[in-house]
Amino acid sequence: MTTTTPEPPRGDVHAQLNFYSPPADGSAPYNLADLPPNRPPHNYGTATHSVPIRDARGRESSFTLDKDAFQILLNQPPSAEVAFTDDASIEKNYYPEVEQLLLSTVPGATKVIIFDHTIRRPDPTSPRQPVQRVHIDQTGASAAQRVRRHAPSADEAAARLAGRHRIINVWRPLNRRPVASHPLAFASSSTLRDGDIVPVEHRYTATGYVGQTAAIAHNAAQEWYYLSGMTGDERILLECFDSEGGKEGSGVAGGRVAHSAFEDPRTREGAEGRESIEVRALVFGP
Ligand code: OGA
Ligand code: FE
Repeated sequence: MTTTTPEPPRGDVHAQLNFYSPPADGSAPYNLADLPPNRPPHNYGTATHSVPIRDARGRESSFTLDKDAFQILLNQPPSAEVAFTDDASIEKNYYPEVEQLLLSTVPGATKVIIFDHTIRRPDPTSPRQPVQRVHIDQTGASAAQRVRRHAPSADEAAARLAGRHRIINVWRPLNRRPVASHPLAFASSSTLRDGDIVPVEHRYTATGYVGQTAAIAHNAAQEWYYLSGMTGDERILLECFDSEGGKEGSGVAGGRVAHSAFEDPRTREGAEGRESIEVRALVFGP
């Protein structure tokens, strides 16, 4: 009798994640967002740890934005966008669907401003590939900067910043079949400590824009999850920032989700590469 590894891999797994270690020379950490070839993309080090990553499949509804800073949505309707190759077409077809999804899913949300999207494809010619480094997309400082940049006026930005504002990334695979390689891992925000989070300057060399992301130091208290065999009719909401996060009495445990793609040791050689799109939005209200 021969046994074959089921595809996609299912169930809990141990895998290596790449965490933060500080620059050896004591300088402040930075990334180069649009790096020229042969330049180091960041000036800090990597601490690789093998961590348990639990399969959220079967208990998807037990995770919430306020507790975990991620939420899993199953059985989403097909998108009007099919190819996901043309930015203008994605903005026309897919953005309105993401906006509606956020308005109907995020409790208290009254306004959504989508500000970017990224497509990742595994072929070496693709500009973006899965990110195998644990990070958070924004910090409090860069979230406020995004509100000021994308709100229609300075007055509205000030008003929005005085109310609840969040940044949420809507992530989905684009493969036709269930994801079998480089799945996304995410840590419950309730298990991530402020001391694990290291702000990192995010420098766009072409435009001079300087944002801020966060690298993450390993801590055994962090509880990691993934969604096995994720399909194109599923979504993960990754909350990057919540102005209520960590506030006394808010019930919001940090409101920021650390995440990373990982190499699943069970992935069959030659398995299809993962393709995905992530759409980032400012979400305002209540
Ligand atoms: C993200 C992200 C990495 C990946 O969506 O913010 O970091 O591999 N994605 O999809
Ligand atoms: Fe990210």
